[in-house]
Amino acid sequence: MFDGFINSLYIVASIFFILSLGGLSHQESAVRGNVFGILGMILAVGGTIAAKSLDNIGIVIGMMAVGGVIGILVTMRVQMTAMPQLVAILHSLVGLAAVFVGFANYIEPLVEYEGAEKLVHEIEVYIGVLIGAITFTGSVAAFGKLQGVISSRPLMLPLRHWLNLVIAIVCIWLGAEFIGAEAQADGTKFLLIMTVLAFLLGLHLVLAIGGADMPVVISMLNSYSGWAAAATGFMLSSDLLILVGALVGSSGAILSYIMCRAMNRHFVSVIMGGFGTSGGSASASDIGGEISEILPDEASALLGSSKSVVIVPGYGMAVAHAQHPVAEMTRKLRDKGIEVRFAIHPVAGRMPGHMNVLLAEARVPYDIVLEMDEINPEMPDTDVILVIGANDIVNPSAQDSDDGPIAGMPVIEVWKARHTIVLKRSMASGYAGVDNPLFYKENNRMLFGDAKDSIDKLVTMIE
Ligand code: TAP
Repeated sequence: MFDGFINSLYIVASIFFILSLGGLSHQESAVRGNVFGILGMILAVGGTIAAKSLDNIGIVIGMMAVGGVIGILVTMRVQMTAMPQLVAILHSLVGLAAVFVGFANYIEPLVEYEGAEKLVHEIEVYIGVLIGAITFTGSVAAFGKLQGVISSRPLMLPLRHWLNLVIAIVCIWLGAEFIGAEAQADGTKFLLIMTVLAFLLGLHLVLAIGGADMPVVISMLNSYSGWAAAATGFMLSSDLLILVGALVGSSGAILSYIMCRAMNRHFVSVIMGGFGTSGGSASASDIGGEISEILPDEASALLGSSKSVVIVPGYGMAVAHAQHPVAEMTRKLRDKGIEVRFAIHPVAGRMPGHMNVLLAEARVPYDIVLEMDEINPEMPDTDVILVIGANDIVNPSAQDSDDGPIAGMPVIEVWKARHTIVLKRSMASGYAGVDNPLFYKENNRMLFGDAKDSIDKLVTMIE
């Protein structure tokens, strides 16, 4: 009777998780999606504690309280622009948990397994620890790159693909030895060696990726963390954890696939560190030409006299917290009868949907926020494009060059418009470290300064 009750709690929790994912797929329903996720988690954790009649319930609740307080403090203090790093470091914890659970479960299994069950259990442990270890160090490396602790440039070890292949083959061989091991001490030794190798593999796979491929890495690690959780679910015989892990793993994999398509990348090449690996990139000296500045009063006059304006927001708009003045400027321009639309690149900013979230927060109407593919054909008919703190996503060299960190990445073709105005603080390059020929084009003007300060000035000047 009680078991039946707990199982129905788990089914309701699973439904909440599925509704949560559905809600998170659209901005309008994202808050509702989060609420479903919280409710599902309360039911899942509450049901598990109630079902297990734990001897050490005091420790469990104490650790949850400590973790909960740390989680609340961190999320209250984290800047929106630092969310990807936070997500990466949280993924690393999921991976590490899978490693710990795997070792604990092998050394002291919940039940004594025999025959085929023992074989299946050992495979579960081995795969769980392998995925968990790769996820752990891969996520730590991603955190380091996004936080700027490690260079975002790809690490180019000689024969790196061979190195990965050799590690993978050795891990498979160790797996066979682990499963065939008679004594637990031998099995633990093989598991330990594989864990160290998997730590190295995770680190190397992510360090070898850089530039414009980082978004794919983040969503891929998201997927790995889901599979690590699912593997933990198998080890602990927890149907709910298997289901939730599979949901996270498959949604992360779908997101990675969508990102790869948007970035014109091959998924396998990215995870093997194959793209974004060549050092060649356009430099200022390759580009040449003069840059031409514009002052806020001239920019406001140009905007005021145009019929159609497209705004391309990027990471710098998030850094400057300029979304509210941008929304205010949009309202003023639309009141004057000027058509204003936003062009969103799939990897603008530092996390999937970053710009959409900021614009939604500033209450920019959804119907004027368009995806890159929708707006690109309309560039030649646009009077003025305002590029606000964006760089890589409007870099024409992505289309012109065959190598370099952003080569082949689809970009917003702003240079095809009549005029472009780029708002940024200096001539510095963007995330991928590639100079931008757009800045030197004849129809481009640079409005230097913090994006929020510049937009504040434009808002006061637009009549
Ligand atoms: P970036 O290429 O990073 O360019 C942002 C620009 O904003 C910089 O050139 C910077 O120039 C300017 N900026 C910074 N702070 C500013 C401020 N306060 N006011 C005005 N400008 C400011 O950004 P993007 O065009 O959005 O492209 C995103 C890049 O990040 C891509 O390479 C993408 O692959 C990568 N990435 C994306 C993600 C996801 S999932 N979206 C994750 C990881 C990496 P100044 O310093 O001169 O001001």
